[in-house]
Amino acid sequence: MAALIGIDVGTSGTKALAIAPDGRILASASAGYPCAHPRPLWSEQDPEDWWRATVKTVRQVVKQAKLKAADVAAIGLSGQMHGSVFLDKSGRVIRPAILWNDQRTAAECDEIESRAGGRAALIQLVANPALTGFTAPKILWLRNHEPRNFARTAKVLLPKDEIRRRLPGELASEVSDASGTLLLDVVNRRWSTKLLEKLELDGELLPRCYESEEATGTLTPEAAKLLGLTTACQVVGGAGDCAAGAVGNGIVKPGLLATSIGTSGVVFVHSDQPQFDPQGRLHTFCHAVRGKWHMMGVVLSAGGSLQWFQDAMCSSVGKNGKKSSISFEQLCSEAAATPTGAEGLQFLPYLAGERTPHLDPRARGALVGITLAHTRGHVVRAIMEGVTFALRDSLAIIEGLGVPVKQVRAGGGGSKNRFWRQMQADVFGKAVHGMAADEGPAYGVALLAAVGAGHYKNISEACAATVQVADGSKPQAQARKAYDRLFPIFQGLYGALREEFRRLGEA
Ligand code: XUL
Repeated sequence: MAALIGIDVGTSGTKALAIAPDGRILASASAGYPCAHPRPLWSEQDPEDWWRATVKTVRQVVKQAKLKAADVAAIGLSGQMHGSVFLDKSGRVIRPAILWNDQRTAAECDEIESRAGGRAALIQLVANPALTGFTAPKILWLRNHEPRNFARTAKVLLPKDEIRRRLPGELASEVSDASGTLLLDVVNRRWSTKLLEKLELDGELLPRCYESEEATGTLTPEAAKLLGLTTACQVVGGAGDCAAGAVGNGIVKPGLLATSIGTSGVVFVHSDQPQFDPQGRLHTFCHAVRGKWHMMGVVLSAGGSLQWFQDAMCSSVGKNGKKSSISFEQLCSEAAATPTGAEGLQFLPYLAGERTPHLDPRARGALVGITLAHTRGHVVRAIMEGVTFALRDSLAIIEGLGVPVKQVRAGGGGSKNRFWRQMQADVFGKAVHGMAADEGPAYGVALLAAVGAGHYKNISEACAATVQVADGSKPQAQARKAYDRLFPIFQGLYGALREEFRRLGEA
C-alpha cells in the first residue's frame, strides 16, 4: 500500500501522520515534550526531545497503519517556525534551541534595523521588519551574549530542519520556513547575501534552501532502520507550520484565507505576488506553492492563553505528586453557558508580547472589567473572545490592504471546537468552514511528500484532489452585533495600557 508520512515538530509536541496518495488518513500519533522558560519572556526546548518524539510517532504510525517498510515513498517535514538550533562543526547541538515565542532579542532587532539602514531598507531586502521571534535576531543575541557559543557555531537550523539533519542527514531548509529567519530575500526566494553582509554574518551558517516540494535527500541507513522504513524513502523540503497548515486546508489560490488556533493563532492568506503591509504588521513570506507567496498575521498566545489559564489556574498537584487539571471540555462548556461578551469582561492575549498588530515584545496579558458577578466560565469566554478579537485585528489589516477574502477556513485545535469556530464566525461576521481532514500542518507536508513522490504534478493539483471543505458556521445576527460593539473596546485597551505594560516590565 503506497503511503506518505507528514511530521510536524510543534511547540507542545510532535505529530506524525500517514496518508494514502488520495489523501485518506491511515494513522496518526503524537508525543509531547516540555518548553522551558528559564527567565520571563524566554522560551527554549531541547532538540533531542523533538527527535525522540519523531522516532516514537513515526514508528507508531507505521505500526498502526500496518505499513511495510517499502510502502512509504516520501516524508514531508513541518515545524514551529523561527526557532534556532545552533550546531558546532561536528554537528553537535551547542545550547537549547531558542523558540519563536521568545522575546529576549529586542536590542538585536534594533541593531538589525540600524545595520540595514532603517526599517524601510530592511523590508526592501527581506520583505519584513525585525521581530523578536525571528531567527536572525537570535543569532545576533548569541553573538552579543554568548560569544563563546557563537564562535563554536558552524550552522543554524530551524526546528524541522534539525530533524532533516537526522533523517537524510542533509543540512537543508526550504523557502517558506527560511522566510521567517529574516535572512531570506523573500521576493527572489534565496538567501539575502546583502543583509548577511550588513550583519557581518557568514553565509556558511545557513543551509542550502530548496522549494517546499523538492526532494532534499533519502533516509540514511541508520534513520531507515530506526523508523522501520527504507533508504529509498525521500524527504521533501516541507514547510514551516503556518504554510504547511494552509496547504492542508487548500489555501493555495487567491481569495482563500485560513485561521488557525494552536499555541499561536494565525490568519493566513495566499498571494500570487509578494504583497506588503507598509507598517510591517503582517509577515510576507514565501508560500509552500512554487513561485507564490503569502501574508499572515500572528497572535503569539492563542490556544496558548487558554493553556496558560488551565495550567496556572485550574490545575493542582495531588498527594501522589501527579498534576490534575480541569479539562478543556469542562472549561469550554462553562464558557458557553455565559452570555456573549462575558458581561463586560475583556482579555488581552499578549502573554508573550504580541506580533500582529502591535509588534510589541513588551505587551502583556490583561483581564479587564472584572466584577463580583463574574465566574470562571466568564473568564474562559473572555479569553476565547480576546483571542478571536486578536485574530480579527489581522483579518481587518488583510482586508484593509484590499486583499480579497472569498472564503474563510479554520484549522488547528481551537477550530475543532465548535463553540470557538462559531465564535470566529460571529466575531469576523463571515461564514467559517471546517475541514474534512483537520490534521493540521502534518497533513499539508504529507501532501507535499505526495508531490515529491510523483503522485501529483504540483501541490495545487494535490490539494484539488484531496482537500475537502466540511460544514461551516454562519454568523448569528445578535452575537455579531454584540461583537461589533465590543471589538473597538478591545482595540482601545492596548493603547490605554501600553505605557503601563512597559513600566511593569521595568519595575
Ligand atoms: C509563525 C509563528 C508561530 C510558530 C508556531 O510566524 O511564529 O505560528 O510557527 O508554531
